[in-house]
Amino acid sequence: MDKIVIEGGIRLRGEITVSGSKNAVLPIIAATLLTEDACIIKSVPNLRDTNTMVKILRALGKSVDFDKGVITATQGKNTNFTADYKLVSTMRASFCVLGPLIGRFRKAKVSLPGGCIIGIRPVDLHLKGLKALGTEINIEGGYVVASAPKLKGNYIYLGGEYGSSVLATDNVMMAAVLCPGKTVIEAAACEPEVADLAEFLIKMGAKIKGHGTPTIEIEGVNKLHGAEHRIIPDRIEAGTLIIAALITKGDITLKNASYKHLGAIIDKLEEAGAYIHKVDGSIRICYKKQLKPINITTLPYPGFPTDMQAQMMSLMAVTPGISVITEKIYPDRFMHVAELNRMGAHVQREGPHAIVQGVEFLSGAPVMASDLRASASLVLAGLVARGKTSVSRIYHLERGYENLEKKLEALGAKILREKE
Ligand code: EPZ
Repeated sequence: MDKIVIEGGIRLRGEITVSGSKNAVLPIIAATLLTEDACIIKSVPNLRDTNTMVKILRALGKSVDFDKGVITATQGKNTNFTADYKLVSTMRASFCVLGPLIGRFRKAKVSLPGGCIIGIRPVDLHLKGLKALGTEINIEGGYVVASAPKLKGNYIYLGGEYGSSVLATDNVMMAAVLCPGKTVIEAAACEPEVADLAEFLIKMGAKIKGHGTPTIEIEGVNKLHGAEHRIIPDRIEAGTLIIAALITKGDITLKNASYKHLGAIIDKLEEAGAYIHKVDGSIRICYKKQLKPINITTLPYPGFPTDMQAQMMSLMAVTPGISVITEKIYPDRFMHVAELNRMGAHVQREGPHAIVQGVEFLSGAPVMASDLRASASLVLAGLVARGKTSVSRIYHLERGYENLEKKLEALGAKILREKE
């Protein structure tokens, strides 16, 4: 296993290009199952998760080529309808092959994804939505065994205890596009990644309206054809790099970042006193003065994203004053707290709240990554800490960030990848 070693204290400067969105491309790769025609997907980041999804598509009978950021998916020789435990358990997002398999083949056998370090990650909303379309669902040996001989459009309320569900909305949408009749998904997820999936499906010939809003309407069609699509920029990577600029008191410009997808993140950082400017298609972040503490509550889009909570905590850890971070999507998503405190942060967890008391400085230390966004928060802390920080188990980071250490190095950071 590799680790990342960072010498803190360097102000980041320069220009960097944001990669395509992990959380947009994963369901879009799954959506290629809905047609036998060739699909071409561009701006695909080279990540552990995108490579895992390619492996799953190949196991399901697709012929998939992934080279230089472009995925070409065509029909393979045989079709398989089982996504096995080995692959699904490594990446929850692979559960979103269920919807397209049901939509196209009316049957599927997909392993339950199980939980992960940030929460129990249930799939009850996925199954509720698919059942509402007429799918018979049985749980056998840790697998969802689905058959849908008579799929039919329906009105589906998809809101859960923690609000809308991104991948459940994706799964139901991908089943409904080839399902006779009209489907309305109420309390649908509004994330830009869900809207990007809908745009891809529309290019394939699907009839979808209202994507990006809480009410999505789908008119089923008989067949979908191949399409070409460029993935939207990764708003969480962009947000992470914005915080890298602020935490190091630097001055960076992000290319290929979508300002409109960063609303809640920019709003909160400007409330803290940051200067973030849209400059002809790019975003410039120039540190001007000491930031102020702020309170954050994570919510479904367009609220403040849970995937930016850990990164914001690192910034508030070195911002004088008291900041309160409330996690409403995954109340246990605080694995980064203990590691940040090992670096001298003063963060106290109270249930779904983290009370962050800003300190004058963090001290470099050996820390351990536990999940994707916690890893990013530790790298951010290492950029500003005094001395050397080594972040181990960075395979977590590689799941969702394309060459993050190279991008930070290009901005002047003293950061190296080493063998554990
Ligand atoms: C997506 O996961 C993202 N992953 C997550 O990003 C992100 O944190 C999450 O949405 C929330 O924005 C991908 O898109 C691949 P949810 P998803 O269903 O769809 C509960 C990252 O770091 N829920 O929107 O699995 C659930 O427990 C990853 O890039 C149910 O109760 O999340 C959570 O509390 C981490 N029943 C809330 O809803 C269900 O059937 C939102 O989860 C499904 C979810």
